[in-house]
Amino acid sequence: MVEQNTDKSTDDGKHRWRRYWDVTEGRPPRPTLLFALDRFAAEGRTGLEVLDLGCGIGRDSLEILRRGHRLLAVDREAEALQRLRARVPPELRAQLRTEVADLERWEMPPADLVNASFVLHSLSRPGFDRLWRRLASRLRPGGRFAGHLLGPKDSWVGRGRSWGLARAELDSLLAGFEVEMLEEEEDDSVTPRGEAKHWHLWHIVARRR
Ligand SMILES: C[S@@+](CC[C@H](N)C(=O)[O-])C[C@H]1O[C@@H](n2cnc3c(N)ncnc32)[C@H](O)[C@@H]1O
Repeated sequence: MVEQNTDKSTDDGKHRWRRYWDVTEGRPPRPTLLFALDRFAAEGRTGLEVLDLGCGIGRDSLEILRRGHRLLAVDREAEALQRLRARVPPELRAQLRTEVADLERWEMPPADLVNASFVLHSLSRPGFDRLWRRLASRLRPGGRFAGHLLGPKDSWVGRGRSWGLARAELDSLLAGFEVEMLEEEEDDSVTPRGEAKHWHLWHIVARRR
């Protein structure tokens, strides 16, 4: 396992996410990721180069490694990556590299699959737009994006804490892709960090043409 550090973690950040990591440890990988991995498996594609953006302690990363792919797991918090590495069985460690980086300023390498579960709405809108332009050029043809974005009815969007995309904006974002999964979810629930909120979510898997 190679560890790179291209950014500084903040104490604030650690405290902010520690409860999330504690509560979600042991939860299964996201359906978006499983859908994308199954599509690659059905195509007979193995040994993929995968990026897990905002990987946290590895809810999705562990599944990517178990399926035999090479993974670069990226998070702004060094503690998350330490916890991820501690969870990886010894026989899978050679497949993993980790990098502490802020996605707003990150130079994305080429990849076959870019996974980004419940993180992109944490970026500023300009930061996301920049990252997405990189993603659209660095994802190899036939490669996939799997992840989540907020919709405009999400309560974090209403409170000005985040941004969301309406269906027409999402269609334009995904113009260069074949959309394989696009599920809209609205739900009132409590976040892993204990906050009651209205979720408006897009669950997305898209294949680059
Ligand atoms: C809600 S958690 C999701 C973790 C994991 N993807 C999952 O689905 O369980 C968001 C993660 O993204 C990381 N994160 C938030 N903003 C980030 C940024 N700008 N750059 C890199 N990582 C970030 C946090 O440290 C945290 O681990």
